[in-house]
Order: sequence, then structure tokens, then C-alpha cells
Amino acid sequence: MPGLVQTAAMLSRPHGFLGRCRRRYGNVFTVHIAPYGRMVFLADPALVKQVFTGDIHLFHVGGVRGRILSPLLGEHSLLLLDEERHMRERKLMLPAFHGEALRRYPELIREIAEEEVRTWPTREPLALRPRMQAITLEVILRVVFGVREEDTRDRLRVVLGNLLDEGTLLLFLATAFDRDLWWFPPWRRFTSTRRQADELIFETIRRRRADPAGDDVLSLLIQSSGEGDDALSDEELRDELMTLLIAGHETTATALAWAFERLTRHPQILARLRSSLEAGEADYLDAVIKETLRVRPVVMEVGRDVTAPVELGEHTLPAGTRVMSSIALVQRASDSWPDPLAFRPERFLDSQAAPYTWIPFGGGPRRCIGASFATQEMAAVIPVVLDHFDLVPDRPEPERSMTRNVTQVPARGARVILSPRTRARELAAPEREAAPA
Ligand code: HEM
Repeated sequence: MPGLVQTAAMLSRPHGFLGRCRRRYGNVFTVHIAPYGRMVFLADPALVKQVFTGDIHLFHVGGVRGRILSPLLGEHSLLLLDEERHMRERKLMLPAFHGEALRRYPELIREIAEEEVRTWPTREPLALRPRMQAITLEVILRVVFGVREEDTRDRLRVVLGNLLDEGTLLLFLATAFDRDLWWFPPWRRFTSTRRQADELIFETIRRRRADPAGDDVLSLLIQSSGEGDDALSDEELRDELMTLLIAGHETTATALAWAFERLTRHPQILARLRSSLEAGEADYLDAVIKETLRVRPVVMEVGRDVTAPVELGEHTLPAGTRVMSSIALVQRASDSWPDPLAFRPERFLDSQAAPYTWIPFGGGPRRCIGASFATQEMAAVIPVVLDHFDLVPDRPEPERSMTRNVTQVPARGARVILSPRTRARELAAPEREAAPA
């Protein structure tokens, strides 16, 4: 197929196109995606593991990612660094995303979700993805940046919202043409918005350095990075905050949107989830989250550039090859997952996924640092929504998956119709649920 046709197929029907490629060519095949060129896709868990856990000097995150994201994230971003610099910065960031630190976040996340759902309209179609983005942006501002002052939060909400809206298409254009677009008015607007965002972020960092005793991620980063030459500089902190925003905001909102898109197409699963939550059990919720991330992965693949010739299965890839570990193909393979397209959370109750067959957060030394944060956030938000509303889809057919930036989103925004759950209905619910049995 001509490269442009392959690109169009990847953008419009990524799951279908990659599935057809695998059926025709097997677990290793090449796709041409403009403007980036040829990429080798891997759909075999063993080969994906080899790349994820391979020598950090051999597998780099690569120039493409840097070219697209560095104008926004800066040169110190964890997502863009390689080798020892990446390991140093990751080590400094890990404590804020593990153990004791993680236990402090869900309460505030629930509070934020409670505030947001109170504003939702009922009895009319509502696209959930933008509503989830409002929650996850607020979580980034309060739990990650830890902005305590309401006026700074209001200003950041507007500026960061504009930056995300303006930035993405422009960053793609800048990459496609591989040059500074200073002459292009929307690009100048983007750089001016970025400057405003930076001023607010630097102000937040200065205030936190003066009083770093908070429970938020920024305070923990300042505490864990210590003092002296090893400490993270203000510029490094700025780039990491921007990275956490970009990596953690849309991804989690989209995963939440998909959870409701799937649940509303499976009323029995939704009913079982409700009753398990009412019984105070968390296992089924955990299984619903895992199954959502399996069958509707938000990030379909992650790329690496190989820096020297490398043997992968039967193939020798020359230096400079871009390798894409396909999360979507691995998680929808029928040899690992019986009836792979079915939404069936029970599969996570009965058994554990085989190694490298469930990889929504990647793997190895670059595995998503926010994986537990994201699943906790989902586990905090889903019960709040279910507590307030009954949900049905606005149309019975499933929503298509559509590419937006690097994520796969429900094409119609996960549209549902909500109706309030009243006390009387809650009391009536057990009888209603009991009847079909
Ligand atoms: C459902 C939500 C999320 C999904 C599906 C997701 C997915 C991923 C994936 C696949 C990677 C690996 C990239 C690679 O191998 O190159 C990654 C990396 C990363 N994610 Fe997430 N992510 C999510 C939420 C979050 C959250 C909430 C945060 C932080 C608040 C976050 C921060 C990061 C960072 C900093 C990295 C780079 C790690 C490194 O290179 O060492 N992510 N994410």
C-alpha cells in the first residue's frame, strides 16, 4: 500500500488496520506512517519484553518523540531522556508515586470528583470524556502541582487548558516540517501561552520551595531530590510538572471515559459492579479497570529507536530502526486472551495475566511511573459517578476508537444519559436487580 494510504488507515481505523497486518504478516511487520517513515511493529509478548527490558543504551525513546514533545515538555522531561540521565531523574521521581505517598491521594481525588459531578446535567446526552478531563486536570493541579491558592489554580486551569488545545496540532506541524514556525501566528500564540504557563509554574515551584511540607507530588519531588548538585533544578521541576500534566491528564480521563463506554454497553457488568461496591468490595472494580485498559488501550503502542543492530526473533534490525511495541495487538491476541474482543472483567478475577500480555502502561525501566496513580484515580472516580447517577448510553452501538494525539479516544466522547440516583431508587434497586435471577 502507498505510505499515505497506510497512514490514513492508521489514523482512521488503527485497530482494524493493525489487526489485518498481523493476520497477513505475523507478529513482526513494517508500517509506513507519514511524516515519520517506516516503523517495525511487534505483536509478540516475548519480543515486546525483549525491547522493554533491553539494554538502555540500545533502545532509545528516540528523535520522533523528542521532536514532537520537547517544545512543550522541555529538554529535562522524563519522557524524553535516555540512559543515565533518564535513570537519575526517574529515581528522584519514584518516591512520589509509590507506597505511603500513594495512600494520601485518593481522598482528595474523591473530593474533586464529588465537586465535579454535582455540575453534570441529567436526562440529556452528555459526553463524559471532557467531564473526566475536568476531573483529571483538577487532580493534576491539586494533587500533583499541589496548588493551594485558588486564584493561581484558576489562572493555571485556563492557561494549561489553552496550551493543551492550541499545542497538539501545532506540535505535529512543527515536527512534520521540522522547523521553527515563528512566522505562523498560531505558533506565536502557542509560545506566548507556554510563557504564561511557565511563569505560573515557576511561581508555584518558588512558593513550594519556601514551604515544602505538603503531601502533593511537587512537595515530595522537592523533598526527595534533596539539596546541592543532585537536587532537581527549577527548570527540571518545571519540565517534570509539564510531563506529568501531559502524560497523566488526557490518558486517565480517556481511560475513565472508556470504562463508562464499556460499562453502559454491558448492563449486567454495570449491575455487578454496583452491587460489589455496595458490599464494600474492591476486587470487581479492579477487574473492570484492568479489562477496560486491556480491551480499549489508551496508548496503542510505544516506540524505541535502536542505536545499534539488534536481533529480534528471526530478524536483524539495523541501527536507526524505529520499533513499535504494540500494546493493542498483544492485548487482543486470541492465544493469550480467549474471545479477546469481549469485555469480560471476570477474566481478571479467575486468573492472572501471563507476563507481557497485559501492558497498558508499558514495561521495564520506562514503565509508566503514574500507573498506580492512574488506577487509583480511576478507582476513586468510578464509584463517585455510580453513587450519583444511573447511566445508559445515548445510542446502543459501541463507540468507535479514534486517534487523538497519541491516545485512542471514544469517537463520540463516551456519550451517556444520566439520571439522578435518589434515595428511593437506591432502596428499590436490590429488588429490581433480584427479579431477573
Ligand atoms: C490510564 C492512564 C495512563 C496510561 C494508559 C499511561 C500509559 C503510559 C505508557 C504506555 C508509558 C510508557 C511509555 C514508554 O514505554 O516509552 C507511560 C509513561 C509515563 N507515564 Fe503514563 N499512563 C497513564 C497515566 C499516567 C499518569 C496519571 C501519570 C502521572 C501523573 C503518568 C506519567 C508517566 C510518565 C512520567 C511516564 C514516563 C516514564 C519514563 O519514561 O520513565 N502516566 N505511560
